[in-house]
Amino acid sequence: MKSSIIFFTFLSFTFLAAQHSKLSPEHYKEQRDAFRNLLPENSVAVLFSAPIRNRANDVDYVYHQDPNFFYLTGWHQPHSALMIYKNPQRDGAGQYREKIYVPERDAYMEMWYGKRYSLSDVKKLGFERVAERAEFKNDITPTEQFDKVLFFEFKNDIRNQTMYVLKNGQRLKVEDPNDLFDLKANLRAAVNFPQDFNKLRHSAYQEIMEADENNIEEVREILQSIVARDSMLSQDNIINKFLNEPTQNYYKEAQRQTAFALRNYNFDIETLPMIMADMREIKSKDEIQLLKKAVAISVVGQIEVMKAMHPGMSEREIQGIHEFVYRKYGAADEGYPSIVGAGENGCILHYIENDEEEIENQLVLMDLGAEYYGYTADVTRTIPANGVFSPEQRALYQIVYDAQEAAINASKAGTSFGELYYLSYDIVAKGLMELKIIEDPSEARSYYPHGLSHHIGLDVHDPGNYGVLAPNMVVTIEPGIYIPANSPCDSKWWNIGIRIEDDVLITPLGPENLSAGVPRDVEGIETLMREDSVLKEFILPELETLVQ
Ligand code: GLY
Ligand code: MN
Ligand code: MN
Repeated sequence: MKSSIIFFTFLSFTFLAAQHSKLSPEHYKEQRDAFRNLLPENSVAVLFSAPIRNRANDVDYVYHQDPNFFYLTGWHQPHSALMIYKNPQRDGAGQYREKIYVPERDAYMEMWYGKRYSLSDVKKLGFERVAERAEFKNDITPTEQFDKVLFFEFKNDIRNQTMYVLKNGQRLKVEDPNDLFDLKANLRAAVNFPQDFNKLRHSAYQEIMEADENNIEEVREILQSIVARDSMLSQDNIINKFLNEPTQNYYKEAQRQTAFALRNYNFDIETLPMIMADMREIKSKDEIQLLKKAVAISVVGQIEVMKAMHPGMSEREIQGIHEFVYRKYGAADEGYPSIVGAGENGCILHYIENDEEEIENQLVLMDLGAEYYGYTADVTRTIPANGVFSPEQRALYQIVYDAQEAAINASKAGTSFGELYYLSYDIVAKGLMELKIIEDPSEARSYYPHGLSHHIGLDVHDPGNYGVLAPNMVVTIEPGIYIPANSPCDSKWWNIGIRIEDDVLITPLGPENLSAGVPRDVEGIETLMREDSVLKEFILPELETLVQ
């Protein structure tokens, strides 16, 4: 008995459930070509797959690919790397400008963890060069030939992984010599990445290098804001002197010192996020199709819950109905942890416990999004558990609705995110003043404490520049009012949290609300909640009756 337990606990559980891409190799090739066009001259960009994250003991979380990596490759497996070169490289087979590194075939590991792919299969995905990951360390050294080696900031959440090999019929646990940990270590070594790297200091030095007599005051201000974020940097000799040296010409000396301090480095961790923001904020036709599907699935989830909801339900059961609908449509996951909060829980912006056992007659805030082939929706509805808004709930709801309606209608190419936010803020502030919940518009901030809008895509908070709206952006419009208990207003308003969130495609003709299929006005919600749900027939035995 004992030995079989050891046998079954011998290998850790890593779940490779990430979905394959739905988009074509040509789509990703186009993305990589567009990306290459944005790279600085004579540079190489190095991107990595996401780490495997541990849940507890020998159980890992279900694997989720890094969105930037997925965006450029469609590749769903871990322990992989991608290099994209600005200028063509040469090997025995000729010129190439990109190379992906993937895990090698391994019958034993595949038996436990699932299929890996032959290099010829990976090649079919449209990469100019494919290689086993062990080759990465040879290719990444040396990097002096490049003016810049671009990568994303290193995070410290990667474990050095073990793997299993069969030797003489014996299973051996060994260090995986080419896992993500090693791939990144190879890059660190190749670019001479400093042990004591400080991102803010690095940014400060970059700013100093950009200084000239016309912008010196501006650079000083930027340095001051950097030092305000990390006061230790005021001890840094170069930064300190730049900030405090009275002569205008000091910057030249500071630049010399900075250049000396940076002389061994050609890496750049600032440009990639900017390139990805430029690219990812505008969606391609294919991406928009997937987003529309993710949103449509989430809309059905909201509709089914509106029909099924009653005061005896738990928050978790409601969450389960949404997520069951997602799975039924083939969505692999939620794009973020589902939020289902009744009453006071609806006032907690990132409430994800969802453990209230009875929602009773409260208002229930439901912020959920299906992730469909990598792309995620982000839809919120707030509805009364018993199907009818109380006068207080209705009054507050109407303010949020009006703010959202105005912001959706104003979501046109050329309008800025800032303008939209203030438009919604002013409506919320005016409404709260009319209800005598606040006395001055500035107080609305404490009841509407978050932003109005963000991009969605492979991330729920997708990268972007957040300047003005443009065609083929897909953004949320999500005003809210949250009045927790003990707020400085009449107690009849307490424990009401409301957010209405829709996903809007910006088209040349104006906004297209992709989540309009689920009602968001009071009438529409109350009408739908009167409809019967098929789930009424889905009655399970009481748990107590199942256990002696
Ligand atoms: N669900 C996260 C958000 O609405 O931004
Ligand atoms: Mn959102
Ligand atoms: Mn949301």
